[in-house]
Amino acid sequence: MNILVITGSAHRKGTSAYLADSFIKGAEEAGHEIYRFDAAFKNVHPCIGCDSCRNTGKGCVFKDDMQELNPKLLKADVVVFASPIYYYDINAQIKAVIDRFYANNAALKSAGKKAVLMLTYGDETDESAEGAAASYRGMVKYLEWENIGVISAKACYVLEDIVHTEYPKQAYELGRSL
Ligand SMILES: Cc1cc2nc3c(=O)[nH]c(=O)nc-3n(C[C@H](O)[C@H](O)[C@H](O)COP(=O)(O)O)c2cc1C
Repeated sequence: MNILVITGSAHRKGTSAYLADSFIKGAEEAGHEIYRFDAAFKNVHPCIGCDSCRNTGKGCVFKDDMQELNPKLLKADVVVFASPIYYYDINAQIKAVIDRFYANNAALKSAGKKAVLMLTYGDETDESAEGAAASYRGMVKYLEWENIGVISAKACYVLEDIVHTEYPKQAYELGRSL
C-alpha cells in the first residue's frame, strides 16, 4: 500500500515525530511504501477561499509545496496525520494542509482511503484532544474515508514523556498491522 504520513511539529525529535517514526517503522516492516510530508518544514499557504480551484479548473492559486504533496495524496491508500495539540486542536501546519484538500475534494471524496490520527499533548485528560478528534472524524466522514485508528497520547509534553509509554508501541503495531 501507499501510505502518506503528514506530520505537523517543528520538533524533529519531538513527541509526535516519535509516534510518526514508530508507525513508519511498523508499516515499512510490513512492506508498505511510505511518503512523509513534514508540514512544519514545508511552504504551504493557508487556503484563502478564493474558489479559483473550483471556478477555473486550474488548481490552487498558490504554487507551493502542495504541488509536491498532491500527487502523493491522490495516490495514497492510507493518510496518517501526526500532530501535537496546540490550543485544543491539531496544529496550524497540518490544518493548512487539510484546508488545501479543498482544491481536490472531488478526487479525494469516496476514493476508498483509510486514515489515522496520532496526537500528542501535555495535559493529562483526554478532553484536551476532543476538538482535534472531532475535527478529524468530521473530515473523514465528509471525505468518505475509513478511520482505522486514533492514538491520543496524553501527558506527553516532551520526548522523554512518551518513549516509555504504550503509545509508540500502539503506533508501531498499527503500522505493522496494515
Ligand atoms: C503553542 C502550543 C500550544 C499548546 N497547547 C496545548 C494544549 O492545548 N493542550 C495540551 O495538553 N498541550 C498543549 N501544548 C503542549 C504540546 O501539545 C506538547 O508539548 C506536545 O508533546 C508537543 O509535541 P511535539 O513534541 O511533537 O512538538 C501546546 C504547546 C504549544 C507549543
